[in-house]
Parts: sequence; C-alpha cells; structure tokens
Amino acid sequence: MKLLICLLALLGPWLAGAGLAQRRPPVIQDEAQVPAYSLPPLLVGQDGSPVRTRKDWEQKRRPELLRLFATHVYGHTPAWSGQVRWKTLQENPQALGGKATRREIALYFTPDDAGPQARLLLYLPNQRRGRVPAFVGLNFNGNHAVEADPTIALNPNWMNPWAENFIVNNRATERSRGCEARRWPADLVVGRGYALATLYYGDLDPDFDDGFQNGIHPLFYRAGQTRPDSAQWGSIGAWAWGLSRALDCLLADPAIDGKRVAVVGHSRLGKAALWAAAQDPRFGLVVSNNSGCGGAALSKRIFGETVGLINEQFPHWFCKNFQQYNYFEERLPVDQHQLLALMAPRPLYVASASEDLWADPRGEFLAAIHASPVYQLYGHQGLAGDMPPPNTPRATGRVGYHLRAGAHDMLAYDWEQYLNFADRVWGRRR
Ligand code: GCU
Repeated sequence: MKLLICLLALLGPWLAGAGLAQRRPPVIQDEAQVPAYSLPPLLVGQDGSPVRTRKDWEQKRRPELLRLFATHVYGHTPAWSGQVRWKTLQENPQALGGKATRREIALYFTPDDAGPQARLLLYLPNQRRGRVPAFVGLNFNGNHAVEADPTIALNPNWMNPWAENFIVNNRATERSRGCEARRWPADLVVGRGYALATLYYGDLDPDFDDGFQNGIHPLFYRAGQTRPDSAQWGSIGAWAWGLSRALDCLLADPAIDGKRVAVVGHSRLGKAALWAAAQDPRFGLVVSNNSGCGGAALSKRIFGETVGLINEQFPHWFCKNFQQYNYFEERLPVDQHQLLALMAPRPLYVASASEDLWADPRGEFLAAIHASPVYQLYGHQGLAGDMPPPNTPRATGRVGYHLRAGAHDMLAYDWEQYLNFADRVWGRRR
C-alpha cells in the first residue's frame, strides 16, 4: 500500500501534466491545420427567428448578442450612478512645434480628488475651423510615453515591464518618456485635422491578477462583495469603461465634434476598444489594431492564441464564465464576427500585421467579412472578397481592412489608413 502511495505521489504531477497536454492542443500557426468549425449565426435569433430588418436587429438580435458577450466573454459592466469629473491640470498652447494645444486632464471617478482617477492627454490642432473629429485610445505605458516632453507628468502607477519601456520595480522612470511614441503619431493625426486623446490603461485597472482589489472594480462592489461575480467584468471591461469616461469628457469640449469621435486600440487595448464601442453607441467609428483573440479574431478557428491560452495567461481580462470555454471553443455561444457586427452601422476598421500569427490575421479578416451582413441591413457596403495581400488596404465600404507587412504593433502606416478611412466615411476633403 505504502509503495502504491509513493508511486502515485511520484507519478501524480506527470499524470496531471499529461492530462493537461491532452487538453491543451499545440498552437496552430498553419492554415492547413485549422479544424472544421461552424460560426454561430449572425442573423438568426436564439429562438430561431430570422433577423430581416434593422428593427429586428436593433430591437432583438443586437441586445441579445450584447448580453451574450457580457455573460460569457467580457462580463457585465455594473450600473454606475456616479459622474466623472475632470480638471485641466496643464495646458501647452504651443505643443508639437506650435501645431497643437496639449492638455493634461484629470478624470475623477469619485466625489473625492484622492479616489481612483485617470489622466487624459489631449492634442487639439491649432489650425482648425469649427469642431474637429477625434481619435481616443488607451496607451500601454502612460501619457509620458506618448511624447518625450519632460513637462508631461510621469505616471506614478504600476506598469508592466516590456522591452524598451525602462520600467524599474513596476514604475516608470525618466527614461520611459517617449517609449511608445511610434504608436501615437500626434504630429500626423493633428496635421490631418484630428484631435488625439489617450490615457493609460493601468489608471483604470493595473494589468495583473490581484483578485480585483486595486483599480476601479471595488468602486462598484455591493456591500460585502470582494470580487466581481462570474458574469461581471474583468480588466477589459474596466478599460472599456474608462474609454467611455474619456468620451464623456471629450463630448463636453466645444472644440470637438461629438458625432465624430473614433475609438482606437492596439492588441489587448484593441479588445477593450471593441468592447467599449459595442456597449457605447456614442463612439462614431471603431478601429481594432491587431486585437487578436478576444478582439477581432474568430475564436472557433483556434489559430494562434486560443481562449484557453488567453485565460490561463491572463485570468483577469475576461469574466470568470469565459473560462468554461478553455479548449472548448466549439461550445461558445458567440464568436467575434458577432462582436464586430455590434459596431454597425458605425464605420469599422480592422487591421492585422503579417507576422502577427498569434493574433490570427486571417481570423480577423474573416470576422470582418462575416460581420458585414449587418452593414448590408443598413444599406451599407461592408467588407467583401479575398484577403488582400500585405500593404493593400481594402476600404471602400463601411468596414475597412488592411494587413500591414511586419510585426505586432501600431505604426504610422496603420494610422495613415485610419485617417484615410475616417476622411472618406466622414466626407472630409483633404
Ligand atoms: C499577449 C496576449 C494577446 C494580446 C497581446 C498584447 O500577446 O496573448 O492577447 O493582444 O499580449 O496586448 O500585446
């Protein structure tokens, strides 16, 4: 008996490991290995009824899908009875060599200035006639990382150390300034007549699994609640909420055209941008840059990152319920084409990068294709045809797409396409 127990103790971890290896299939990065899959229908309700009109979509199917994504993927966002307050902390009317007015604005989420808050960095073009359209998005490294100007406040909050962001003990340093400038070409955006606004995602919820004790989640707990329920929001939900609070502030700015505020996000922050726009119809245009699994990419293709892999590495991003689908994507009641369809009829742009197989570029393209029937319900052209080759944007309809040649990132090339797309769909002359 003793011998058997010893043997089991020795073999236990190996047996468990073998079980896990069986459940965790190898990462697919070859199109030929994508299994047969079927997508949940877009235009058939859960009760089997067809969705034929805008009214069917708006009154029945859209709310149903939004609920399904909240319950099974991102978690429901708790109702908020509060109101965001803001205060301009600093203004530089001659930023970017005189081209822009740059403001740092504190967004407060409680009546008390000492409570959780975020800092919004806003660039307004100085050359403007009337209200200007805007782009808003979360950044990875703090506002000081967007432009290497020592007068921008260094963000004091917890940060992830990444290559070249000079984080020491999870805090930014003077050397971190400007480390994310390539993703925020303010010069280009302002030069094209758009305002640019950004805020640090960690101001809303630091990106590590602490059981939701820091960040904004505790502001929403019921008496006695210590973490979100299984169908309540995770970190992506909190980041998306922050985007809507930034929008509250932008909509109150008389320099900004409130009907033309685009939300943009890269990677995990692209997932947040999509979820923000799905819930908040005030965003007038949506850009997903390399958002991948849980963003624009179809989950059921299980190409690159999968639901199981993302939930194991980032258990705090989605709601607890999403974990039921780890390595069982076929059981998911939704897929990401349906999330993209929630943007309709607002213009949507999806971008991938050719070397970014982890994010499944083809899965992102196909999701945009399969979202397009809802745009057609509105009489708009969506996206059609085969996947375009690298650096060949396909953006003649209300759903645009490009595959940038290169690695996972958001670069000037991507921004140029977003600006061209926004100019066209918003009827702006260059
Ligand atoms: C990881 C993660 C992705 C995510 C990316 C990012 O690679 O697996 O899902 O999009 O980080 O945010 O850069």
